[in-house]
Amino acid sequence: MNIIGSSIIELSTVPSTNNYAAELIRQTNVQNGTVILAHEQTAGRGQRGRIWHSSSGVDLTFSIILFPEELGTDKQFYLSRAIALGVRDHLENLLKKEVFIKWPNDIFIGDKKICGILIENEVSGNALGQSIIGIGLNVAFSDNSMDFMYTSLKKEMGLLPDRTELLKNCLASLNKRYQELLANRYSRLARDHYNALYKKEEWAEFDLRGEVVRAKILDVENDGRLIIELEDGSVTSEGTDTLRHIVYGTDISDQRSN
Ligand code: BTN
Repeated sequence: MNIIGSSIIELSTVPSTNNYAAELIRQTNVQNGTVILAHEQTAGRGQRGRIWHSSSGVDLTFSIILFPEELGTDKQFYLSRAIALGVRDHLENLLKKEVFIKWPNDIFIGDKKICGILIENEVSGNALGQSIIGIGLNVAFSDNSMDFMYTSLKKEMGLLPDRTELLKNCLASLNKRYQELLANRYSRLARDHYNALYKKEEWAEFDLRGEVVRAKILDVENDGRLIIELEDGSVTSEGTDTLRHIVYGTDISDQRSN
């Protein structure tokens, strides 16, 4: 059964689909898997409290409401893995080229970001009570000052794809991965997520506690922490609070969301 997209709410304009989803949960008995799709966001939110810009009527901006009550809090990062993989699978099928997940869950083609994911979880006891998953896919977003860091489907395909079709196929890929999660296929999700990681096992620049270091990704822990090897041979495990993957001399999510 397809949970994600079991109900779709389409809005012409909204400040943020993630905020709208949170409000809906507060005020109504919203169905598990409901998708909020907006043709325009006036105050889209990105990671680390920043603004997410998108082109109205062109880019795909939506949020998914999930109540994964059977998912223990220790498995939260598997949801993040499943969602990033769902988007990655969809784009690989569409574009017939390799698409990467930049830790923890940016979607990259080559060295450019094509999609951002903002997951906001609420814990209830030992389980993940509710999750709002915001997805911003660049269908044709373009901004001269940022084009060296971002790509879009239009650029990758040479044409403007149909958004209804895109959403349908993206939800189908997300459902497949979500079913894997519900079927406890944890090792498969962890393996596929690791295999899809951008710049794994190669020397790359990171910001580690405010210092620029060169490091190599060795693995991802099941709580989402990244295990890296530093140039002096030491190995450390870090979360997003202390570590950022540097692309183009800065953390890419800081640029788009200014
Ligand atoms: C990032 O910074 O990479 C995450 C971007 C997430 C943007 C999406 S667009 C739909 C949903 N609503 C929001 O306000 N943000 C997310």
